Amino acid sequence: MEKVRLNNGLSIPYLGTGTNTYGKENNDYNGELNGDFSALESAINLGYRLIDTAISYRNEAGVGKTIKDSGIPREEFFITTKIPADDQYIKNKDAVRRTLDQSLENLQTDYIDLYLIHKPIEDEEKLRLTWEVLEEYVGKDKIKTIGVSNFSIDDLNRLDSFATVKPAVNQIKSNPTEWNNEWIKYMFKEDIRPQAWGPMKTTEAHREVLGNIGTAYNKTWGQVLLRYQTQRGVIVIPKSHNPENQKANLESLDFTLSDEDMSQIDLL
Ligand SMILES: NC(=O)c1ccc[n+]([C@@H]2O[C@H](COP(=O)([O-])OP(=O)(O)OC[C@H]3O[C@@H](n4cnc5c(N)ncnc54)[C@H](OP(=O)(O)O)[C@@H]3O)[C@@H](O)[C@H]2O)c1
Repeated sequence: MEKVRLNNGLSIPYLGTGTNTYGKENNDYNGELNGDFSALESAINLGYRLIDTAISYRNEAGVGKTIKDSGIPREEFFITTKIPADDQYIKNKDAVRRTLDQSLENLQTDYIDLYLIHKPIEDEEKLRLTWEVLEEYVGKDKIKTIGVSNFSIDDLNRLDSFATVKPAVNQIKSNPTEWNNEWIKYMFKEDIRPQAWGPMKTTEAHREVLGNIGTAYNKTWGQVLLRYQTQRGVIVIPKSHNPENQKANLESLDFTLSDEDMSQIDLL
């Protein structure tokens, strides 16, 4: 699996699996939990090792159990989870500590590879205390890497004004309907690695262009789309309930788009 080095020196796979509808009725984000993690089992069997969950997805425990039950050594995985920006989780330092400890318990692990703040925390004091506890857990080796999600450039600057540990990742929406290129450019300049959520969102017209580009490489529109992102340095976490799509997404890493094709996708 192709990996990239983060600003703290640790490596992260360029491609992982999202999980936000795993373990839920009708594969629906808001569905009742039903304990069906067959999609995650399939992803792990196919070779996925970067797994992206969050407290808000309500499925950390099922994700943790599935990883454990795979029998694959813990150190082969790169597990990401996220703390919600809601008051109950971040009202004071003890609340943050309880939240992080609960994630460690849910995920049945001694450490979490990447812990993100899921959304910007507007309140300065709460942003600071949440980050300070995340830094404390890095110090205790309970978290390897800390980062943020959906943080605007202003939010990143607010954090930078007091952070001792710089965020290593900002997980944001990026797909042809909204590449967010200026934002991504800023992150590269600041050595904060962009990670794309919702990477498969496309229109019929996008899929046609991407599919046409893929013909020369014997690749599908989805593989071309994912390769475009990883080739320009953006980590992707596509989510699929279909093992064939999961396999195809992994196989997006085994070819290289020409500069000309990269430029054509830039213009989508
Ligand atoms: N930080 C945040 O605020 C945030 C927000 C949203 C999501 N996320 C994370 O990002 C992950 C990915 O985002 P997402 O789940 O919203 O959307 P996504 O991965 O962009 O799209 C998922 C959809 O794409 C389809 N798909 C996947 N691979 C395909 C392929 N090769 N060909 C055709 N269709 C394919 C899936 O259908 P099939 O199941 O039929 O394959 C599914 O309907 C989430 O699971 C979550 O972990 C984070």
